[in-house]
Amino acid sequence: RKKVTIPELAKMRRNKEKISMVTAHDYVTGLIADKAGVDMILVGDSLAMVALGYPNTNQIELEEMVYHAKAVSRGVKSAFMVADLPFGSYEESPEKAIRSAIQMIQKGGMEAVKMEGGKELAPTIKRLTEVGIPVLGHIGLTPQRQSSLGGFRVQGKTASGAESILEDAYELQKAGCFAIVLEAVPDKVGEWLSSKLEVPTIGIGAGPGTSGQVLVMLDMLGGFGSFTPKFLKKYSQFLDINVGAVKQYHEEVKGGVFPAQEHCYKMGDEEAAKLK
Ligand code: KIV
Ligand code: NA
Repeated sequence: RKKVTIPELAKMRRNKEKISMVTAHDYVTGLIADKAGVDMILVGDSLAMVALGYPNTNQIELEEMVYHAKAVSRGVKSAFMVADLPFGSYEESPEKAIRSAIQMIQKGGMEAVKMEGGKELAPTIKRLTEVGIPVLGHIGLTPQRQSSLGGFRVQGKTASGAESILEDAYELQKAGCFAIVLEAVPDKVGEWLSSKLEVPTIGIGAGPGTSGQVLVMLDMLGGFGSFTPKFLKKYSQFLDINVGAVKQYHEEVKGGVFPAQEHCYKMGDEEAAKLK
């Protein structure tokens, strides 16, 4: 498959072809996503929790995200690659955001960056897109702001709440976002926002009416999430399957079942006879 580009993503939106996106956090998960043929790969700061064991996404720093992005990029040939700018790496000023985004592209090997927030970020997004750094927006539930939102709560449940998300979305679109992630809003709102916008919307917990979907790979594979949000579908049982496999190995080592003859290198009989 040839490289997915921003114009192609826009074309998918125009042709009503759904856009598939999944997160990756290292070489292997990047390789899995790319081989599976998804359109976009997100090195999301969710990796703080699913890959690094942090309690939330606000403790991971830019350098750590860049390190993981670089590993992902080594496994990806076709999918369009975006990484999150983590909490603290872009809010202060457009200049700080530009510096952080350049790190992510130059050192992390990414093609675009994502940042969480609404119209207050418009000047920053405008500056980034002006210097040629594509930006993916992220509105609705924005986990980096979980404290001020009072936790992981569905957004836009009232008409006025939905209107204010639309206002943000319009500002992000005007500022130059090539697409917008829409997290945890009623399906009605996901569809409504998507019909109002020209840029593709990528939903997570936003129903089937968005231009595309994104899930956190380890979550959809049945990884380590202790909490299962309503929007999550588990396509595998990563944790159970792999704990089972390693447990079997452990027991076979204890029982002398592994390694078997087929796993052994052989020495010629003549040489073996010389061993006293
Ligand atoms: O960090 C992440 O994985 C994300 C997506 C779930 C949108 O931001
Ligand atoms: Na994120």
